[in-house]
Amino acid sequence: MFMRDTIYVLDFGSQYAHLIVRRIRDLGIYAELLPPNTNLDALLDAKGIIISGGPQNLSGKNALRIDRGIYDLGIPILGICYGLQLMAHELGGKVATASKREYGPTEIVVKKKGSLFVGLKNKQMTWMSHGDHVTKLPRGFVTLASSSNAKNAAIAHEKRNLYGLQFHPEVSHTQYGKEILRNFIRLTGARRSWTMRDFIANQIKEVKETAGKEGVVCALSGGVDSSVAATLVHKAVGKRLQCIFVDTGLMRHGEVEQVKKTFCSYQKINLKVIDAKRQFLTKLKNITEPERKRKIIGELFIRIFEREAKKLGKRYKFLVQGTLYTDAITSGVSVGKTAAVIKSHHNVGGLPKKYGFELIEPFRYLYKDEVRKVGKLLGLPVEVTQRQPFPGPGLAVRIIGEITQEKLDIVRQADWIAREEIEKAGWGKKCQQYFAVLPTIKSVGVQGDARTYGYPIIIRAVTTKDFMTADWAQLPHNLLKTISVRITNEVRGVNRVLYDITSKPPGTVEWE
Ligand code: XMP
Repeated sequence: MFMRDTIYVLDFGSQYAHLIVRRIRDLGIYAELLPPNTNLDALLDAKGIIISGGPQNLSGKNALRIDRGIYDLGIPILGICYGLQLMAHELGGKVATASKREYGPTEIVVKKKGSLFVGLKNKQMTWMSHGDHVTKLPRGFVTLASSSNAKNAAIAHEKRNLYGLQFHPEVSHTQYGKEILRNFIRLTGARRSWTMRDFIANQIKEVKETAGKEGVVCALSGGVDSSVAATLVHKAVGKRLQCIFVDTGLMRHGEVEQVKKTFCSYQKINLKVIDAKRQFLTKLKNITEPERKRKIIGELFIRIFEREAKKLGKRYKFLVQGTLYTDAITSGVSVGKTAAVIKSHHNVGGLPKKYGFELIEPFRYLYKDEVRKVGKLLGLPVEVTQRQPFPGPGLAVRIIGEITQEKLDIVRQADWIAREEIEKAGWGKKCQQYFAVLPTIKSVGVQGDARTYGYPIIIRAVTTKDFMTADWAQLPHNLLKTISVRITNEVRGVNRVLYDITSKPPGTVEWE
């Protein structure tokens, strides 16, 4: 990893820990998430440290603690929520359960500006989420701000460079959150050196050094991460990069051509397109159960890649993967969490390592929107950099029931029309995902005075921040009407159009 001024965020399990990192990176400073039990030696190069919030309370048996030596490093430290309580507790203060919990928007009054509130108004709205609060300050600390239920909503020991906030500055509802974080960063003296332009230059250099004279192979999916990764690696190793794209026949309208155009014609990247349409259709014959579909597709994809990789022989030592920071980190209490399997995701990025390749993962420190920026700077078209998420199993999970060539053609064309109209109406920017689904049922209709017996198409459009929850988009009736008229007129075999008005939960974004 290249050297740059870094702020470490110790992740005590707050749902906002990633957001803290994001906000600091947006200020132009590199920030990284680390587990709470990180050894002090690994923190010595930090310009500043932030201790995040977390779901626990200090009286709990399993309350996570921190190496107290951290407070003597002399580096500016900011504790947020649980981070503030932990700091106060460990330095001799007292934390108790508040008589009234504070959740949501809360006004604070700044009594002493100190370094954190410089240039800001005395009364400001913040976002709180806590049951405990600091009732007695450790020696040398002063109260900077209070709310009606938390006397110590912000505290500081300026001489020791220690600061604490009971509220969340990283949440957009905190009126001056960005300014408060900027004031903290100013104390650390960290230089603004985190730009995607620098990142690209550094990463190209690093990939060049890693790959040496060896060959590099990349499994392209057409998605943002693998496309941008391939483009960046190509800048580093040129002709020694070999991309493989498996055409499963489950892609959306125009996607295969888009991949060929972007990589072959435009960038002159070595691209091998494997036509596996027939194989996928054969393997999926008579399969209706969603998890089986996913397993079959995931496995077949790996088999095909394996076969192609073998053909390449020993000339290729490295495999490029578009793994993101969010995929790569295993931080703090997030480790070992178990969750119910709702869907087994299949991603090109999840190819097992056993092929004997060494991995090149240029984006293991980046968030998705940073990868989009890199793609834009590398000159990739917006259709690639702003592509909406598309599941690995593709249209196979957008046909409910058995997959046939006829249904694939229908859903592909209907999807194209829906997307085109949604984008034309300016709703593409407002929805994070929008597409068509085809259920295997038929209904009676009438077209051109004749009876029809055809499939319905379901339109799904959602707004969401993180795809963990989602709301159905309130598309205007006129737009829905245009989509419905076009689909029933233009797509043979469809005589009805429905709009899905289910949020997640209880639904999921995809139908399977
Ligand atoms: P669900 O349907 O679980 O989808 O609400 C959440 C997001 O994940 C996408 N998705 C997938 N992405 N491989 C992927 O890369 C998959 O197998 C997969 N299944 C769902 C879905 O499109 C939505 O953006």
